[in-house]
Amino acid sequence: MNGKALTWLVVGSGAREHVISDTLKKSPYTARVLCTPGNGGIAENDRRNVKESDFLGILALCKKEEVSAVIIGPEVPLIGGLSELLGANGIPCVGPDATGARLEGSKIFTKKFCTENNIPTAEYRVPHSFECARQIILAWGAPLVIKADGPCAGKGVRVADTKKDAIGAAYEMMVEKIHDEAGSRIVIEQKLEGFDVSVMGLCDGENAMIFQAAHDYKRAYVGDKGPNTGGMGAYSPEPRVNAAMLERIRTEFFIPTLRALADRGTPYHGVLFAGLMLTIDGPKLLEWNIRWGDPETQVILPRLKSDLVPYLLATLTFGGLSTLPPFEIASDVAVCFVLASKGYPGKYEIGNCIRGEEDAITAPVHIFHAGTLENESELITAGGRVMSVVGMGATFPIARRRALQIAEWIDFKGKWFRSDIALTI
Ligand code: GLY
Repeated sequence: MNGKALTWLVVGSGAREHVISDTLKKSPYTARVLCTPGNGGIAENDRRNVKESDFLGILALCKKEEVSAVIIGPEVPLIGGLSELLGANGIPCVGPDATGARLEGSKIFTKKFCTENNIPTAEYRVPHSFECARQIILAWGAPLVIKADGPCAGKGVRVADTKKDAIGAAYEMMVEKIHDEAGSRIVIEQKLEGFDVSVMGLCDGENAMIFQAAHDYKRAYVGDKGPNTGGMGAYSPEPRVNAAMLERIRTEFFIPTLRALADRGTPYHGVLFAGLMLTIDGPKLLEWNIRWGDPETQVILPRLKSDLVPYLLATLTFGGLSTLPPFEIASDVAVCFVLASKGYPGKYEIGNCIRGEEDAITAPVHIFHAGTLENESELITAGGRVMSVVGMGATFPIARRRALQIAEWIDFKGKWFRSDIALTI
């Protein structure tokens, strides 16, 4: 590689895409980082106006801007085959093809895949009709987890504490079709007890190099109450996952998955994300995601001391990571508060003026935008999750205090956030 040779295109518009863009910019190999459609935190010159769903528009953009490689943030374009389309047109893409993307695109596929490859996960059934689902629920009893088979923007998983709730969830998905076809088939799972962690890794088809674990706060309100969200905060590393546990996760989850996909002739290249439950019987897989986690990426990448670019490029070649040293990670920890709009995760307000963000940017705090928009010279809210505020520090209380100070300082009408992120670590 020559210095300053690469033009990257990051696809997506969240805080995850903002932190990925910032990380790529730090590399001596990077000349330019474009982001489409981006958000108000991405410099105007670097933003492009092509939507994630416009595959041919993205391909044309890559050609016009002579893009060297693409990173796709959200799952929907990956599941739809954007990585393959770009690859077939000579544009390398850090992300799996549509076959690998089935690990997130179909819960039924993943559960069967786990069974076939001895990957520890909760016991499950796939009912062929609503009546069959009802019979399984009555026979198994609660608590249960009901999962829509297809992608539902994070809304397709229901934890049911009673049989009535479980039958209700199955009815809404299979009969009322609240998630359209994505929920017409479901998985019924035993609910696992334990502590959930997120582990992401870069994969080269054969091997995985994994990052330290993170914990994500999915529920809306303090004390893990309220509806599920896209994630209201995160921290990393997760002290419950030591080096031995990380290695166990790599060898018991990532490696058999990669091996099985390679054996089928569909090697997995890109980022793979394991949502795991640490149970008294060891770690068990809750879900595979085929992309960077949000908000986990906001607490992982700022701690990375290695240049990310050689690792990303190595994922493109089968076995490519084997020549690279393990990631160098800063000893500082990271804590992320997500600032949200009033009403989120339901219907929320947009168009409110954001103040205090520019004078708040002081190391060691990072601000990664999500639902923001530049409107003439003003920054306004444009989404449910507005920005991620990430504090760094030698200890969790220090990192937390730094992030909290800025989360409180930034102001927009209707702003709210979960105040208990990393409070007990
Ligand atoms: N934070 C979970 C996810 O990105 O799916």
